[in-house]
Amino acid sequence: MAETVFIPLETFPGEGRIAASPESVKKLKTLGFDVVVQAGAGTLSRIPDSEFEKAGAAIGSAGDAARADVVLKVRRPSSAEVAGYKSGAIVLAIMDPYGNDQALAEMAKAGVSAFAMELMPRITRAQSMDVLSSQANLAGYQAVIEAASEYDRAMPMMMTAAGTVPAAKVFVMGAGVAGLQAIATARRLGAVVSATDVRPASKEQVASLGAKFVAVEDEEFKAAETAGGYAKEMSAEYKAKQAALTAEHLAKQDIVITTALIPGRPAPRLITRDMLKAMKPGSIAVDLAVERGGNVEGAVADQVVEVEGVKVVGYTNMPGRIAASASALYAKNLVTFLETMVSKETKALALNAGDELVKATMLTHGGAVVHPNFAAAPVVVAASS
Ligand code: NAI
Repeated sequence: MAETVFIPLETFPGEGRIAASPESVKKLKTLGFDVVVQAGAGTLSRIPDSEFEKAGAAIGSAGDAARADVVLKVRRPSSAEVAGYKSGAIVLAIMDPYGNDQALAEMAKAGVSAFAMELMPRITRAQSMDVLSSQANLAGYQAVIEAASEYDRAMPMMMTAAGTVPAAKVFVMGAGVAGLQAIATARRLGAVVSATDVRPASKEQVASLGAKFVAVEDEEFKAAETAGGYAKEMSAEYKAKQAALTAEHLAKQDIVITTALIPGRPAPRLITRDMLKAMKPGSIAVDLAVERGGNVEGAVADQVVEVEGVKVVGYTNMPGRIAASASALYAKNLVTFLETMVSKETKALALNAGDELVKATMLTHGGAVVHPNFAAAPVVVAASS
């Protein structure tokens, strides 16, 4: 009998994405799965149930999770959801595992094999499974769109018979996947763009997009990239130099978009109230790191607030604000990963614990928290006793 993949309606407040698309359903069918999509799960991503049916899925209800061999989700399942899963089920989602030991313990106890898509290694083989990239890219784009709509002026320079409107000056802090897309989008809208990062590799990428690179380029900067391509936490001395440079540059900007993150750590605080105060009234700051503590002082999760005359945009789920595109890419990431878990001969699920993608992403399996970064967490021991 074919194994069943279930795609539920996301229950997290404000989450409009869905972990499937008609294309991904078709692919799941060719892999040999039966597919059940919860009724209405695609509504906020503009995918009606009928489109899923046409692609070969059955439309079901939340209770269908109980018979699923695989559950595909956007967000980590809630305690109530996990309690409804079959022991041994594979669950793929953006699990947000850091600091959530209790939730990991619950998934372990339920006997599910939970995979954190955001821990996918950044290697060539896994590029099409990289949810951080697919979602951050859209977040970077959407951040500029949100900034433009909050801004009371035009983005491009306009020379008209009635006078000239100057181009907006946009500063992007953190030039990873989201930042680079923000630079490209702001450039397309005609802004004058500059950007900063602590990784030297980003300098060339920023320049290649036509933006000016502004950073403290000392010895520490030259060694700031980890082998995995991520940023390190910088020293207090570097942070002070960076703050001075940021303050000076920021005072001349109209819009700042911050995307700076350090894996597994709180986001670095890059912009203080005083720096906001020095910006022109009506300036805009979009903080894409707000969920991880924020790069901008005064940013409030899921709100637009005015801090020292600057509108600070703190939407936590920027990809969710462009849900139709975000779901399509996310669904593709998931199905590509799931395909690696299906035996070509038997067309059945065959988890290979030795596979480097499995090793990097598997959080729980066989009743235990198995990921080396989380297995030793004391609360796990307490919860399973
Ligand atoms: P991220 O989301 O972890 O961080 C965003 C950016 O913030 C990074 O560029 C980081 O250097 C920067 N940052 C951290 N602390 C900062 C500070 N104090 N001041 C200014 N900037 C700061 O990073 P993301 O976007 O996930 O990308 C990290 C790297 O991985 C990039 O080099 C990217 O090109 C690379 N990458 C590689 C892939 C692959 O090989 N398959 C796929 C996607 C990304």
